[in-house]
Amino acid sequence: MQKFENVRVFDHPLIAHKIALLRDEKTNTKHFRELVEEITALMAYEALKDVPTKKVTVKTPLESCTQNVVEDDSVVIVPILRAGLGMVNGVHTLFPTAKVGHIGIYRDEKSLLPQEYYCKLPDHIEDKICIVLDPMLATGGSAKATIDILKKKYGCKKIKLMSIIAAPEGLEAVATAHKDVKIFVSAVDRQLNEKGYILPGLGDAGDRLFGTK
Ligand code: PRP
Ligand code: URA
Repeated sequence: MQKFENVRVFDHPLIAHKIALLRDEKTNTKHFRELVEEITALMAYEALKDVPTKKVTVKTPLESCTQNVVEDDSVVIVPILRAGLGMVNGVHTLFPTAKVGHIGIYRDEKSLLPQEYYCKLPDHIEDKICIVLDPMLATGGSAKATIDILKKKYGCKKIKLMSIIAAPEGLEAVATAHKDVKIFVSAVDRQLNEKGYILPGLGDAGDRLFGTK
């Protein structure tokens, strides 16, 4: 999937190790939540590489020096409810001042089409780096719909997407529909099943994060 210029697939042994644990049906809710956070933080380190910085003067115990620091107000994260919520703390570990906008989207069980039911974003996000968070990119419908909303309704110009596991179909759909959006994923799985679940995947991310099944 490195064939799309806007897609970055992480190939790192530490992330792979954590994904193996995440997939395991024996992993309990607490551990699952921790793993999603840890993987997100590792991914965010790269995804935030181009965050704007400014120079400040710092006085060390020995002398003053000039040092780059990040622009606090430059990043907004947009978790797709519910499962995207599990990734919020992972980004905040590295970038605690990121504001959070919430988008509620669920997939209709039959059509698999995304249904929006909630949207609350910070004001004036058009020039911020907006990072959409959803651990699962299956058909790509939820991510595509979210990116469409951010672009069309809110004028966002700098959008990124972070997903932990993607199906090839969904990744291709989002990468081609939104060529300007940089997509970060940590695994590209084999395929979707007839119900739109990723194989081998990890099951239903929302249910496993929140213990609803
Ligand atoms: C899951 C997942 C994604 C979406 C991915 O959400 O968290 O948002 O499916 O599928 P797609 O790429 O085919 O759109 P779900 O609809 O199960 O809602 P939930 O997070 O509230 O459980
Ligand atoms: N959503 C999930 O949580 N898991 C999948 O496999 C597909 C969509």
